[in-house]
Amino acid sequence: MNNFEFYCPTKMVFGKGSIAKLSELIDKNKKILMVYGGGSIKKNGVYDQVQEALKGFNITEFSGIEPNPTYETCMKAVEIVKRENIDFLLAVGGGSVLDGTKFIAAVSKYEGEEPYDLASKELAVKDALPLGSVMTLPATGSEMNCASVISRLSTQEKFAMRSPKVYPQFSIIDPETTYSLPIGQVRNGIVDTFVHVMELYATYDVNTPLQDSWALGLIKTLIQEAPKVIKNNEDYDAKANICWCATCGLNYWLSVGAVQDWSTHRIGHELTAFYGLAHAQSLAIVLPRLWQERKKDKASKLAKLARVVFGCQELDDLKASDCAIENTENFFNSLGMPTKLSDYDINALEAAQRVKERFETRGTLLGEDLKITPQVVYEILKNC
Ligand code: NZQ
Ligand code: ZN
Repeated sequence: MNNFEFYCPTKMVFGKGSIAKLSELIDKNKKILMVYGGGSIKKNGVYDQVQEALKGFNITEFSGIEPNPTYETCMKAVEIVKRENIDFLLAVGGGSVLDGTKFIAAVSKYEGEEPYDLASKELAVKDALPLGSVMTLPATGSEMNCASVISRLSTQEKFAMRSPKVYPQFSIIDPETTYSLPIGQVRNGIVDTFVHVMELYATYDVNTPLQDSWALGLIKTLIQEAPKVIKNNEDYDAKANICWCATCGLNYWLSVGAVQDWSTHRIGHELTAFYGLAHAQSLAIVLPRLWQERKKDKASKLAKLARVVFGCQELDDLKASDCAIENTENFFNSLGMPTKLSDYDINALEAAQRVKERFETRGTLLGEDLKITPQVVYEILKNC
């Protein structure tokens, strides 16, 4: 096992009716900016629950954070923060709203010239406004991690900012708030969670049996609960399990001391930036082909996935890896999630070329051992 440090200061408040606890979680003297998206929270009653819980608090609102939150929109919120002397940010919505809020928190305290550098150049975030969240979409794990993924419209780019300064102080998850999700978003969340766990798990073995068991236990639970929520969006118990899977899938607990590989996400982000695919749609396309390309180096972990989760009896690791790849793609398809670029009328060769060129320009090398050169990205994408 590799050396590690683990830190996560976020208080999780989970379950039915927990939005009512907001007033105990935020200091009443704070000037709050409530940040939300395109209005789902007004339709499903979450907005009203927040207003009710925070009666008498000093709240300004900022709406319009879009899916794949943009730098351009976040900067408008930063102006309000400065103008109104806001000193607490409350994100209410999905991962995009929370990621946008984390970025707003960091930029509001940033003194350099180009705030976008916090994401694109991974500059250290020295300070940030405190924030909390009410999460309405189980997917990103943003509620219990310190990452924020921001897109820039003007350059068609998507970058992640990471800093301990932007951990939410608290995150509230009431699974009932997810009943209003369209089925496509439910599916996206399940796939995103699956891929998070795999980015944390499917690399090479450094003898982390406990972490592997957690990762594979999470995947087993996800596969068991997913059909229930696809069938019935209001199955509370299944929703609660899916929500907690999503949170634990990316709070990094299950990967301490292990080796990570974020290449599926990095390639997927480019497909989103160029073609507007939803985050999870891009991942479902890339993961099976990336595994196929990197099978030899990932064989021991993929074989373990095949045997423990999918019941594969194959003794040969490479053959078992094929079983893992096939079953994973079948699982995505069983949810109704497409796994080919052609399903979205995107030409694979063109996409492969565009992403390759971009990574060449940036000098990007991906994978747990940096073996995924731009040319390898090309090989992966041309088979997508
Ligand atoms: O904008 P509103 O009107 O709120 O509607 C949203 C949005 O249209 C809607 N929605 C959210 N909760 C709802 C709901 N509709 C009905 N009922 C509800 N309860 O769903 C749509 C999608 O929301 P979004 O927040 O974009 O989805 P998600 O949570 O999947 O977030 C995706 C973003 O997170 C980033 C992705 O790249 C993408 O930008 N990621 C963030 C990560 C992190 N912070 O650690 C890691 C992930 O890998 C990911 O990259
Ligand atoms: Zn993701």
